[in-house]
Parts: sequence; structure tokens; C-alpha cells
Amino acid sequence: MQKNILLIGSMNMDLVVQCNTVPVRGETLLGQQFHTTPGGKGANQAYALACQGSEVYFCGAIGKDEFGTRLVKNLQSVGVHCEQIKTLDGISSGIAIILLETSCGDNRIIVIAGANEKVTADDAKAALSSRKYDALVLQLETPMPTVEAAVIEAQKKNIPVFLNLAPAQAIKPELLPLIDFLIVNETELSLLAGKTVTDLQSGAESAALLRKKEAKTVILTLGAKGAAAFTADAEIFVPAFKVEPVDTTAAGDSFIGAFVTAWLETNDMKTALTRGNACGALATLTVGAQASIPQRKAVDDFIAANVSAKS
Ligand code: RIB
Repeated sequence: MQKNILLIGSMNMDLVVQCNTVPVRGETLLGQQFHTTPGGKGANQAYALACQGSEVYFCGAIGKDEFGTRLVKNLQSVGVHCEQIKTLDGISSGIAIILLETSCGDNRIIVIAGANEKVTADDAKAALSSRKYDALVLQLETPMPTVEAAVIEAQKKNIPVFLNLAPAQAIKPELLPLIDFLIVNETELSLLAGKTVTDLQSGAESAALLRKKEAKTVILTLGAKGAAAFTADAEIFVPAFKVEPVDTTAAGDSFIGAFVTAWLETNDMKTALTRGNACGALATLTVGAQASIPQRKAVDDFIAANVSAKS
């Protein structure tokens, strides 16, 4: 059955500069191409969840500008409910400057929050009270007090919370036990655990540290290596699918869309990690954030093709 998911998060117009290499300090380089394309961690994850078959309700904010209108339209194009996105005067929609290094597909991103900064704790509480949800998905591109209020309110309502600790920021220790799934990459886990994470082994050690502080399930994404889940009684690792990335932007967001949808539908960790990995890998094959996020059928076909290729 289709799951109802509330996403409280950011929406950014991505201003993407494609270049062979990125400049060092003080250097000017000639780049290759420039374009604008819908992004923002919150909106990307909402888009990915919808593409994977979840019913998604978005709570966020835009400015009264062309970027904001485009951002909302793009979410609506995949069926995301946008009634709880407010349009604000006197502030611009969020933007992200992305330097995409075409030689390897890696990026460097600076976000200007704009209207995302105005998503309040009251907005979050109102959204959580407006209907029944099967899950709440959050990231850290909206104000921390909003995220904190949303987590606490969701817990009161028995709604499972998935928090993606991106961009990496510390959270209050008392929040940890209230988060059902903490989704982190190496940098985010290193910051939270206070110990450098580079691989599965160091990730397992840091996840154990967090679990001692009452964290529930920790999901660690390891990029081209794969993804792991550390639960109360198990450690499950699923290796990545091998691809040649052209742009890694929104790969993590795509992972989350497929992981959360599959987990809510199946309650099976291996399936959820596999679908997350597949969706993330496919997103690296196309330039752009939401523009690169695959549909559910593409994920099904990709997994089927890769599993049969191995057997
Ligand atoms: O996760 C990728 C996203 O991070 C980009 O779309 C950009 O907007 C930043 O928020």
C-alpha cells in the first residue's frame, strides 16, 4: 500500500557551473557550461520519494520569485503535495551554487538558505497535525529549532522519523533517541561521533558509539562502496552497484527516496539498502539534482539487470 510521507525541508534552485577542474584560491578558470535546475536536499528527497511510489506532502518555503515557482512546479510534476509550501515576500528562494567537476563527477556546493530559513517550528507542527503520516523525513537545510520541534512532535504522534544529517551539523544529544533512522555519510558520522569515519570498519565503531548514546538505527552511506545499517541486533552491509558517475549531486537524496519507500513497504533492511544503492547509482549517470532522479521502474530494471548479470 502507498505510504504517506511528510517531508519538512529545503528547496533550492541549483546554479550549476560545469568545469574540467575547480579553481584553487586566487585562480580564474574558463568553465564549460552553466544552467539552473531544481534542487535542495528536502525537495530532492521529496521528488525521489514520489518517483519511488510514496505519497509525499512537502512543508517548506519559497520567495515570490521565478525560481520559487519553478521549484514548486517541478515537485508537482511528480505528484508531491505542495499546499504547505508558503510563499514569502521580501526574501529570495533558496539557491545553491554548484561547481561540477566534469572530469570525475564530483561537486562542491555552497547553499544560500533564503526562504528555507523561514520554515518555522509552528509550520512543522501544523503540517504534522494536518493528516496521518507513515513517516517524517528531515534534513538540516532548514533551521535547527524547526527540525527539533518536528522530531519531538512526530515522536508524540508515533510517526517514525528519518533524519538525514546533511549538511553535517551537530544535533542535541537528547534528540538522538527520538530519531528512528539516522542517515549519514562518512563526514556526517565523523562529526556526530567525534571520530573519523572512512570505511565500514570505522563506520561500525562510530555507529556503536552513537548507539551507546541511545541512537536507534544508523544508516551509513559510503558512496561508491555501498551502504550499511547498524541496528540493535545486526549490521547489514550492501555493496554499491558499479557505475561511471558523471554527476554525484543528489545521489544521497536519491538513496533516501528509495531506501525510505522500500523500508516502509517491506520492513526488510537488505531490500531497502539495495534499492537505495540502485537509485543513488542511477542518479549519478545524469547531470543535475531532481533531473537525475530515476523512476521506480528504472530502479527495478537496474537491479534485475545487475542481479542477473552476477548470477
Ligand atoms: O544534495 C544535493 C543538494 O544539496 C543540491 O541540490 C543543492 O541544492 C544542495 O542543497
